[in-house]
Amino acid sequence: MNWMKVCEQVCELAREVGGFIRSESGKVQALEIETKYKNNFVSYVDKKAEALIVEGLKTIIPDAGFIVEEGTVEETKAEWQWIVDPLDGTTNFLHQLPSYAVSIALRGGDETVLGVVYEINKKECFSAYKGGIARVNEQQIFVSKTSELKGSLISTGMPYYDFEILDEYMCFLKHLVKNSGGIRRYGAAAVDLCYVACGRYDAFFEHSLSPWDVAAGAFIVQMAGGHVSDFQGDQDYIFGRRILATNELIYNEFLGLSRQYLCTSIRKTEL
Ligand code: IPD
Ligand code: CA
Ligand code: CA
Repeated sequence: MNWMKVCEQVCELAREVGGFIRSESGKVQALEIETKYKNNFVSYVDKKAEALIVEGLKTIIPDAGFIVEEGTVEETKAEWQWIVDPLDGTTNFLHQLPSYAVSIALRGGDETVLGVVYEINKKECFSAYKGGIARVNEQQIFVSKTSELKGSLISTGMPYYDFEILDEYMCFLKHLVKNSGGIRRYGAAAVDLCYVACGRYDAFFEHSLSPWDVAAGAFIVQMAGGHVSDFQGDQDYIFGRRILATNELIYNEFLGLSRQYLCTSIRKTEL
């Protein structure tokens, strides 16, 4: 497969569908918003965007399977599988806050081979493919060179429906507030990951994310020289709902803290 060509086609599709999403900003009426579960919303914009993406991806690799957030196509297993979040940052979109994105990854077996995240309002297309480089639009990107937590800018997603590790999370946050250069909650996990990839953030972590939130962005971080794992340092971050991503230099320090603060309930279950 010519991954460079596939990546160009996916970027073009993400830009096209991103244009549709942008054109709907501010138009969604309250009655058109459904609650999927606590604090988790969806409108016709997410669904139509997903249908357009699925239709487009089918023309790129006709026999690939899909994992999609909004269920517009049945989940299927195949040699190649697309993982799609048509609109990452729905709450931002519905509140007319600027950051939301299209996120598309392609996996074969257990390996991601391509990731595209298009941040719609900034018109920035982050992408990477196996054997290539990580880019934003045409420019190569790299993770930051910050070498310690002190002074580093950390991004996270605060829990809003799953409070399983809320106490641990708040203790960790307190440590980070006191010992880092600052914390951001941007509201779009795929974008958070790409900002680690291009060095705007030094680290990102979040609990309870789904494969479509992280598959593309995590791959882009790795291709930009960063580290990605779950909170314990294992590789189950796409389906395992716990992810941390950092530049190369602060990974060990950050992982040590994540083990200390965020893995206490896991340790209790193991005892
Ligand atoms: C959400 C965003 C948000 C994160 C949530 C995700 P959605 O995705 O990435 O930043 O905190 O957990 O579910 O629902 O807007 O696609
Ligand atoms: Ca998402
Ligand atoms: Ca979404």
